[in-house]
Amino acid sequence: MKIVILNGPNLNMLGRREQSYYGVKTLDDIEELVAEKARELEVETEFYQSNHEGALVDYLQSLTPDVEGIVVNAGAITHYGISLRDALIDSRLPIVEVHLSNIHAREEFRRHSVICRHRAGTDCRSRLAGLSLRP
Ligand code: DQA
Repeated sequence: MKIVILNGPNLNMLGRREQSYYGVKTLDDIEELVAEKARELEVETEFYQSNHEGALVDYLQSLTPDVEGIVVNAGAITHYGISLRDALIDSRLPIVEVHLSNIHAREEFRRHSVICRHRAGTDCRSRLAGLSLRP
């Protein structure tokens, strides 16, 4: 089984940005933790990060048929990225949306996700990923 782990804008800055929300681990640290867990579960992983919505869309459109699911932290694109949402839907894969911070306990504009609205007939779930990654 192969899954892709997709990260959006500014997540390449983890470890340096707003540590009170996102902790001190870098994206490389987090990807290594995820890869290690995936190896235990015999799941293959592919990681991709971009600061550009179009690049994330291009990446999704180029996925190979062996990919069976997507874990996505779209960063700020979570709150407005309709083209990313559309590309995720078009992938026809199960999607799990994750965040490092609790977006429902922050500013009003972060409480709304366009990625994982409840959609009939799709498998789209939302998770808070951050707690076990904090120092
Ligand atoms: C985030 C939450 C977003 O609102 C923010 O723009 C991010 C990170 C999170 O992981 O908590 O970049 O997706």
